[in-house]
Amino acid sequence: MSLSGGIGEERFFSLRVVSAVQDTDLSVILELAPQSSDAWAFRRRPGQHLTVRRLVDGREFRRSYAIFNPPTERMLALCVKATPGGAVSPWLAGLRVGDMVEASAPYGNFTVVPDATRRRHYIAFAGGVGVAPILSIAAHLLDAEPESRVTLVYDADDGGGIMLLEAVKALKDRRLERFALHIPAIGGDGGADGGVDGGGEGEEHRIRRLSRLHDFLSGGDELYLVCGPGPVVAGIRSALLDLGVSSDAVMSEFFSAPAPAAAKEKRRSPRSRRSSGNIVYVGQERRWTCAYDPARGSILNNLLSAGAPVSFSCKTAVCGACRARVTAGEVDMRRSYALHPADVASGYVLLCQSFPVTDELVVEAGE
Ligand code: FES
Repeated sequence: MSLSGGIGEERFFSLRVVSAVQDTDLSVILELAPQSSDAWAFRRRPGQHLTVRRLVDGREFRRSYAIFNPPTERMLALCVKATPGGAVSPWLAGLRVGDMVEASAPYGNFTVVPDATRRRHYIAFAGGVGVAPILSIAAHLLDAEPESRVTLVYDADDGGGIMLLEAVKALKDRRLERFALHIPAIGGDGGADGGVDGGGEGEEHRIRRLSRLHDFLSGGDELYLVCGPGPVVAGIRSALLDLGVSSDAVMSEFFSAPAPAAAKEKRRSPRSRRSSGNIVYVGQERRWTCAYDPARGSILNNLLSAGAPVSFSCKTAVCGACRARVTAGEVDMRRSYALHPADVASGYVLLCQSFPVTDELVVEAGE
C-alpha cells in the first residue's frame, strides 16, 4: 500500500519484517518484504539505499540504510547498527518477524550498471557499515559480469564486531576465483597487512595510507568504489588521486560528513543569495510554488513548509534523498557530498544544502 506521493516525491510504503537475525553484538540483519502490489517501487540498482521513517509522539525521525543484497532478490536486506540513544536504529534493531516498517522506495547513485561483455577489475574500499552497498554491488557484478573480478578491502574497525562478516564470507565462498577479500582485522587472502586507513591524522598517516593503497593499484582499467564514514572516504579518495588514479575511476559514497572538508567549504564565500522570490517544485503529478523565506533556511525547508512532498532524510548533504535538478534559475549549494561532479555539472543539486540566487527558480524532482 502506498502511503503517499508519486515518483521522485515523498512516498512511504509498509514493509513486513520477514527475518531478524543478530549480526554482531550491536547490529542486526533485517529482511523486509514489500507488499506484492508495491513490488514495482522496489525495483532497484545495486548499492542503493532507502529511508526508514518512524513517528514518536507525533515527531518524525528519518534514517537512511543501504540495501546489502543484490537487486535480483525480492526481499530487501538491511544491516542496522543500534546507536545507543538513537531515535530509529535501536527500535529497528529490536523489531521481530511480522512487525511493519515504513520505508521509501530505493534511491541513490552509488551504483554500477553491469555489462555482461565487460572485463574489469573493481577495487572496493569499505569502512564499517559502508560495506553494505559495496556488498550489493560486488554480488551483482560477479553474477552479471562473468569476466570481471572484485577486490574488497574492508576496514572493519567497528568496536562491536565485524558487520556483515558472514555475508561477505559467503560471497567469497561462492566466487572464490574472482573475489579477493582483505579484512585487516582478521587477515586477508591476498597478503594485505593493516588497514588502508589505519587511524590517526597528519602527514605520517597520509603517507601510511598512500603506501597501503599502493598495494592494490595495478594501473589497468580499474574502477574504485569507496564507501564509509566521511573522513575515511575523503582520505582514501584523495590518496587514490594522489597516486595518479583518474577522478572518473573513483566512485565514492559518504555515510557521514567529512568534517575537515566541510569546515573548509564553510569558509568559502557563498554566492549572493536572494532574500525573496519564488520557488517552483515540479513533481511527477503536479507543481508546487512557494515564496522563498530566508528565515526558513534551505530550499528544502521552504518547500516542506509549503507542503510540497519532497523526499529527504539526513539534511546534511550525505544521503542524496533530496536530489533535484535546477531547470530554471540558479542556486548556491553549500555542500554536495552525495553528488558526483558530473551530476553537479548537469544541474543536479541537494535541496537541503541549496539557497536561491535568482528571483525565479524551478527545480524538478530528481532521479
Ligand atoms: S536530505 Fe540527505 S542529502 Fe539532502
